[in-house]
Amino acid sequence: MGSFDSFSYLTQREAVEVDELLMGPLGFSVDQLMELAGLSVATSIAEVYKPSDYSRVLTICGPGNNGGDGLVAARHLHHFGYKPLVCYPKRTQNPLYAGLVTQLEALSIPFLSVEDLPSDLSNDFDIVVDAMFGFSFHGSPRPPFDDLVHRFVSLHNQIGQKRSVIISIDIPSGWHVEEGDVDGTGIKPDMLVSLTAPKLCAKKFIGPHHFLGGRFVPPAIVEKYKLVLPPYSGTSMCVRIGKPPQIDISALRENYISPEFLEEQVEADPINQFRKWFDDALAAGLKEPNAMALSTAGKDGKPSSRIVLLKGVDKDGFVWYTNFESRKARELSENTHASLLFYWDDLNRQVRVEGSVQKVSDEKSKQYFHSRPRGSQIGAIVSKQSSVVPGTGRHVLHQEYKELEQKYADQSLIPKPKNWGGYRLIPNAFEFWQGQKSRLHDRLRYSPHEVNDQRLWKVERLAP
Ligand SMILES: Cc1cc2nc3c(=O)[nH]c(=O)nc-3n(C[C@H](O)[C@H](O)[C@H](O)COP(=O)(O)O)c2cc1C
Repeated sequence: MGSFDSFSYLTQREAVEVDELLMGPLGFSVDQLMELAGLSVATSIAEVYKPSDYSRVLTICGPGNNGGDGLVAARHLHHFGYKPLVCYPKRTQNPLYAGLVTQLEALSIPFLSVEDLPSDLSNDFDIVVDAMFGFSFHGSPRPPFDDLVHRFVSLHNQIGQKRSVIISIDIPSGWHVEEGDVDGTGIKPDMLVSLTAPKLCAKKFIGPHHFLGGRFVPPAIVEKYKLVLPPYSGTSMCVRIGKPPQIDISALRENYISPEFLEEQVEADPINQFRKWFDDALAAGLKEPNAMALSTAGKDGKPSSRIVLLKGVDKDGFVWYTNFESRKARELSENTHASLLFYWDDLNRQVRVEGSVQKVSDEKSKQYFHSRPRGSQIGAIVSKQSSVVPGTGRHVLHQEYKELEQKYADQSLIPKPKNWGGYRLIPNAFEFWQGQKSRLHDRLRYSPHEVNDQRLWKVERLAP
């Protein structure tokens, strides 16, 4: 993350020239650039404002390119799970813009006239996007944009109530492209998304979130304008410029919104309930939804936790594989009671499972061992899990790995080491937790009870 002055800022003339170069000798078309700009805006918004808390997004679009960026952003926001609405008072007949409108209409995204807008935008919208004027705008906004700019300004002046977040695309509308908010009475965005490269006025931006989008700047432009821009990471279409706002860790909390989770609706058998939630986690595409914290304590009663991967779950319990000489194995040999914890962040869910642990049969462990990639099989032989690695550390492990790799290069069967295999936790208690609004989370506990010699499960709601 570079400091405030370490990145390049363009003058208005340079910004115009860069656009001309892109759409001239560099072969871009205006709709391509608009698509990438709108996508960058939508991804920047999604980086900071999650749709679970900020779903209602009003985009106010001007008649030019900035308005087009806003239309594209609204479309992407729809696909990202937001509920966008658009106010587009001065439409043009240009087929590019007409196409963007048709695309939004096909997604049933509502268009509001200026007259339709509520007097207090904060009542109806979590986010208001200012897509009115970009860097080619001069002078003062004309009706109805003068009034719309004013509405953005008064939003920022609302004190003591939850107000809509303001996001400006490239230039806060009404700002001077180089001087910024000259008399201090203009829009004060919470987020500014600069496009291609920030314009000089962005130096005057004092809101908490400054992002750069438009990941397409070719080297010819970087060289000509000696541009220094922050690097984009991975496949991201946006990058934060400058420091993220200071976050008070004690204030980090989500206001969860989750589906109903009622006693009457849950499965009578907690394993079936677990499977349902596990399927939800799989369907949500979570990374390693089978990762679980396993907590054990030996005879000294001191607990220890680590992540292991669930490799099977059925009516007999939860299975994972490990080394039988590891710390967890030693503790389990002294005390078979253990607990498992799953946390599925994106679903606002956690599941606690408690019970006693026994080894799975050697036959089953062998079967699983041979189903793993050969590299993992060799790794399991090499690793004397939880013991101190002698000598030159990592190198010793690699050396041993290489030797075994050669030994088994003929693809012969790699025997499962005796000290490796599976454990099964046989559950005697479950708790399913789901985050809800205002800390009124769901907690449903299953405990076993005998009815006519049959083991059934009692479901009780615990206070959050
Ligand atoms: C995502 C993830 C998955 C893991 N899966 C396993 C596993 O399935 N089995 C295992 O023995 N260790 C697994 N580990 C490593 C353990 O967390 C731990 O380091 C190791 O088992 C030694 O723990 P112990 O010394 O308490 O016995 C995993 C670690 C992570 C972060």
